[in-house]
Parts: sequence; structure tokens; C-alpha cells
Amino acid sequence: MNPVWIIQKKRDREPLTDAEIAAFIGGYARGAIPDYQMSALAMAIYLNGMTADETASLTDHMLASGARFEWPDDGVPRVDKHSTGGIGDKTSLLLAPMLACCGLEVPMISGRGLGATGGTLDKLEAIPGFRTNLTMDEVRAVVARTGCVITGATADLVPADRKLYALRDVTATVPSIPLITASIMSKKLAEGLDALVLDVKFGTGAFMKTEADARALAQSLVATGKRMGVATTALLTDMNQPLGRMAGNAVEVDESIAALQGNGPADLMECTLALGAEVLVSSKHSTNGAEAIQTLQQTIDSGKALEQFAEMIAAQNGDLNAPRPIAPTSDLASPRSGYLARIDAELLGKAIIAMGGGRQVLSDALDHSTGLEMLTRLGDKIDAGQPLARIFATPMIAERVRHTLLEAIQVADEPPTVGPLILDRVG
Ligand code: URA
Repeated sequence: MNPVWIIQKKRDREPLTDAEIAAFIGGYARGAIPDYQMSALAMAIYLNGMTADETASLTDHMLASGARFEWPDDGVPRVDKHSTGGIGDKTSLLLAPMLACCGLEVPMISGRGLGATGGTLDKLEAIPGFRTNLTMDEVRAVVARTGCVITGATADLVPADRKLYALRDVTATVPSIPLITASIMSKKLAEGLDALVLDVKFGTGAFMKTEADARALAQSLVATGKRMGVATTALLTDMNQPLGRMAGNAVEVDESIAALQGNGPADLMECTLALGAEVLVSSKHSTNGAEAIQTLQQTIDSGKALEQFAEMIAAQNGDLNAPRPIAPTSDLASPRSGYLARIDAELLGKAIIAMGGGRQVLSDALDHSTGLEMLTRLGDKIDAGQPLARIFATPMIAERVRHTLLEAIQVADEPPTVGPLILDRVG
């Protein structure tokens, strides 16, 4: 099949057949189709979209480019949660052990920071010794031992996405719903799941800035998951301010541990419990959301979730008792009185990157000790001079980002309208 004809068809807005998508993605994964032809097809998909059938085929053939986990037929549900990314989003650190405490297995393949958003693997690497590069055999062994794992994609899982994602990143073709759907879902399906919940975020700190775009992405992700036989639901959640108080790496691990000890901030707990309840219900562990939330809360109240977290960390070579790096702190004072009216959460993420907490280029080593603590939330009444946030950085670096942070956290005369944290469910 000539790749040029396939590119031409998509360019001319004709739907591609399953065989055409199979030939193109298979050829690209094998190296028989060069990057320039894949870039041209990605741009045609970006511009002209794909039908649900095409998106499912694309997901399927990306998945077929690599290995996938097969689990014993023992009735234990394998489940996961995936977030489209945000600032301060540490729900994975809580949910993996909480769900494992409920008797489910969680083979969570996670990512690093993307754009301005933080990455679960980067956060966990703030724990001395913690390994995020487990082989497939090691993943199976850790799951068998502790019920959950959080690690990076191995080279043999969805190699087509690894290549295509890097190409999209440099060809302005990342924000395309079919391409994002196939990228996320092929990796999640490779985990061999029974149930999946997607946290699709919208707002200033999210990939999708508007509710409408987030809803369209959620619908595409859920439809594709269901077509591939995984019980999939999604929550649309607000990312117009960081989730929880902490944003960074070591500071987010600390906040996660506090949350597992029962001292989590209300928004983080609401989001975590709601996402967990989705998988407990869709894997038929619980009969309804209220019962599921109670079950999950019990894992925290009993101390079991914290124990389970510690076991997972130890199984991945991490030492929770070793001191984690924490930078010196200074406060960011409000230049005026009023109401906290808007937070540009993406800009906060960029400031954290500038503090060394994220990467400017792929090869950057992170400074896990830096970050932010939000001391105020949208809608709060603010006095002039009141600390808005605490900066974790050396005085020189803190000085360098102070201006950006004040631009990101805006105090105005009028209070904003603050919407609900969980806007809707798609399922
Ligand atoms: N996350 C992914 O894994 N892939 C995308 O395309 C976007 C976000």
C-alpha cells in the first residue's frame, strides 16, 4: 500500500480503512515509513480529524506495535486511572495503593512532565532510590507482591507511540483528539486492564483549556476504551488552580503521604475519591458510588493505604525514611488587597520548571527540592501583603520567578465565579 495515497486520502478528508491504518502504523513502527511521511499524515489527521472507527483502528494498531500485559485468569480486576495532566495533580500516588487495598491490582504505567504539567514519575523519583524503569517481569513481580506499581513505559510497550509522540512534539500535532486518544489509550490498553477511569482536566493549567474540548476528548477516550473491551469512564475536572496545596516534586510526595495519613486537602481528596469510586463501580467491586467512596475512605482511616504505599515504594527500591530534598522557603506577598480572581496554573507550572522542578529540554536533570505551596485559593479575600504562596527554592531562584508568580496569581476587586471541582461524568 503506497503511503502517499494514504496521506492523500486523509488530506482530502476521506476516512481511512482499518487496513490502511494498519499498513501505515505498522510500517512506521518497523522503520519502513520515514518520519516525514508520518508527520504529513499526523498533520492531515490534526487538520481533518478521524471518525470513531478510524480512531479505534489507530489505537488498535499502535497497541499492536508492542507487547501487552496478560494477567492470570483469577477474577482479580486490573484497573487504572489516567489523568490528562495538571499542576499539583498527585492523585495517582494516592489511588494506586488505595485501590490495591480494596483487592484490585493496579499496573500503573505513568509518564513524566509534559509541557507545564508535572509528571508522576518525576515526583516519585524525589524518593531516594525509587526505580521507575522496571522491566515487564519486574512490573508483574511488584504487582503480585504489593497489588500496585507505578513505573514508566518499557521500551517494548507501544513503541509506535514512543516514536510518534516525539514526532508530534516537534511538528505541532500534539493537540489532536484522535492522536491524543490513540496515544493514551494504546498505552492504557497495553496494561491489560478490566476497568479504567480518565481524569480529563480543563482550565488554565490543563492541556484542554475549555470544557467543550475536554468533553470531546473524554467522549473519544471513553468510546475507544469501551470498544476495546475495557469498562471506561471519565470525569471532567477543573484545573483552574493547582490540585491540593503543593506543586513540585518532593513537596507533592510529602502532601501525598499526609493525605494517606488522613490529612489531605479537601479538593485533592474529593478528586481522588471520585476517581477511585469510578473504577470500583465499573470493575463491579462496589455497587454504587457512595459505597465505593466509603470503602476507599476506610483504606485511609485504617492506615492500610499508607502501609500499601510504603510497600510499593520499598518494592521499587525507594527509601521512604531517607530524607527527601526540600529547598529553603520564602513567601510571595500580595501586592494589593482584593479577591484571588484568577490563577494561570500553566504559568505556575512554567515557574516550577524555571526553578528546576521540570524540564526545559529532555535531557535536563530535575531539582526535586523545589516547588510551590498555595496558601490561598480562588475566591479568597486577600489583604495587601498577605502571603499568596510559599516558594521552595534558593533565594536567588525564588527572586527570579517572583515576577512570573505574581503575574500568574491575580488579585482583583471582584471575586471570581468558581465552578465545581468535578464538572461532569462521561461514561
Ligand atoms: N498524553 C499522552 O500520553 N499522549 C498524548 O498525546 C497526550 C497526552
